[in-house]
Amino acid sequence: MKKILITGALGQIGTDLTRYMRSIYGKDNVLPSSRKRKEGHPLMNEGNFETLDVLNYEVIDSVVKKHHITHIVHLAAILSGTGEKNPQVAWDINVNGLYNVLEVSRVHDLSVLIPSSIAVFGESTPKDLTPQDTIMRPSTIYGVSKVSGELLADYYHSKFGVDTRGVRFPGLISSDTMPGGGTTDYAVHIFYEAIKNKRYASFIDKGTFMDMMYMPDALKAIVQLMEADESKLKHRNAFNISAMSFDPEMLAAEIKKHIPEFELDYDVDQDLQKIANTWPNSLDDSEARAQWGWEPDYDLTSMTKDMLEKLINKLDK
Ligand code: SER
Repeated sequence: MKKILITGALGQIGTDLTRYMRSIYGKDNVLPSSRKRKEGHPLMNEGNFETLDVLNYEVIDSVVKKHHITHIVHLAAILSGTGEKNPQVAWDINVNGLYNVLEVSRVHDLSVLIPSSIAVFGESTPKDLTPQDTIMRPSTIYGVSKVSGELLADYYHSKFGVDTRGVRFPGLISSDTMPGGGTTDYAVHIFYEAIKNKRYASFIDKGTFMDMMYMPDALKAIVQLMEADESKLKHRNAFNISAMSFDPEMLAAEIKKHIPEFELDYDVDQDLQKIANTWPNSLDDSEARAQWGWEPDYDLTSMTKDMLEKLINKLDK
């Protein structure tokens, strides 16, 4: 029986992941946690919740013991845009937080799933169909911390036998919780503005292609990799996965099929654009497909349709 602790559960992935995992493993077997409670947040009233700062080893350790945790999904992290505004904090949370989680996992023999990111790549990485194993010299503190995290997780597996696993997420698009401080966030904001104001000024420039994924596929990937047969995994901590690659123009054209009056213009954020320019245009995710059967359900067309339906519904309420 799995008992799963989710760190950073109040972020973009965590709310959806908690609900999704509770539907699979049972409500009492999935424990969302965050640094602080957030009154009014739906997870505060849907079951167990723990306050847990990933920088505090003792607290993680006691929560793991108290709830007999067997698996951790470690989501607590600072994203690319926010990271550049405060690199020291980003390093501290992303690396020292992960270190604590890995240490607790070593001591208690837990399995850990750690999301990495397309941000591990940089200027010198091949941009199109970026291979699984390639040059990784990122230029953001977020990217540097995520490369470090991938290596540290590999190390904990080879040195101590900790069952570490992870994917490199692309930009995630979701209708439930807003992303915070990422370079790919425009692809979420555009939907809210398209519905509310019929126009959106993108902070990422036209012609900038990045990998993206709809949240249901991201949730599926986490559970699928967690459940994957270990003997089939040649890589462990850093699988390229993707579902689609587009630039703002392509996304806008898809939205216009549903909201014909929608207009896209640009108000480019130079700092975020600079980050986007160093990331791949598209990833090669064939290793994830071969090793654990990764296959996304949503492409640009089906994601846009579903996202608009869900958001219109939500904003109507
Ligand atoms: N969505 C993230 C970001 O933009 C990438 O992992 O920072």
